[in-house]
This record gives sequence, structure tokens and C-alpha cells, in this order.
Amino acid sequence: PNVTYICPDGEREEVEVPVGTSIMKAAVSHGIESIVGDCGGSASCATCHVYVESHLEKLPPKTVNEDEMLSDAASEVLPNSRLGCQVVMRDDLASLVVRVAPEQW
Ligand code: FES
Repeated sequence: PNVTYICPDGEREEVEVPVGTSIMKAAVSHGIESIVGDCGGSASCATCHVYVESHLEKLPPKTVNEDEMLSDAASEVLPNSRLGCQVVMRDDLASLVVRVAPEQW
């Protein structure tokens, strides 16, 4: 399934993300530098902050931990804010669009 990342500079990158892979990991391995993923995906750094622009209702709800980490995020937190490492690809999330938060630190 494909994911479109809208980077802070306005560039759009479309990436094929294998089912079971987080959208943070896929971004990092495709050189999308606006997603940092400093903690490696354990929901403890908030440097993988994205705004989910499609399919938001299909995503599993945020855990308490994700919510707490997001409250420390460097960029403004919006209702569609998620940690990219906690969004794991599924077939029904094909064509997901996420906007990468402008600041991750
Ligand atoms: Fe650290 Fe997502 S990679 S919170």
C-alpha cells in the first residue's frame, strides 16, 4: 500500500509501505528527513509527528502513552496529530496521506 508524505517544504513523496511496517520506519528508510524517529519507534521521542490527512477514522485510537508523547511534540498538536511510529500499515490504509509536522525537535 502507498503512503503520500507531504513534507514541510511542500514536496510530496509517495512511498510503498509494506503491511506491518510503521509509516515512520518507511519514511526514514526512504530518506524523508523531516521524520526523525529518534527513539526507533518506541513512542518515546515524538520526533515522528505527522498530521493524518486521510483515513483518520480507520486508525486505531491513540494510546494514553502516544497522547502523552504528542503533548511534548515540538510542533502544534492538532486533532489529526499522530506519532508516525504508531501508525502501522494495513491494506485498508492504502493511499494514506500524511503531512509531516514542521518541527520535530
Ligand atoms: Fe520516537 Fe515515534 S519514533 S515516538
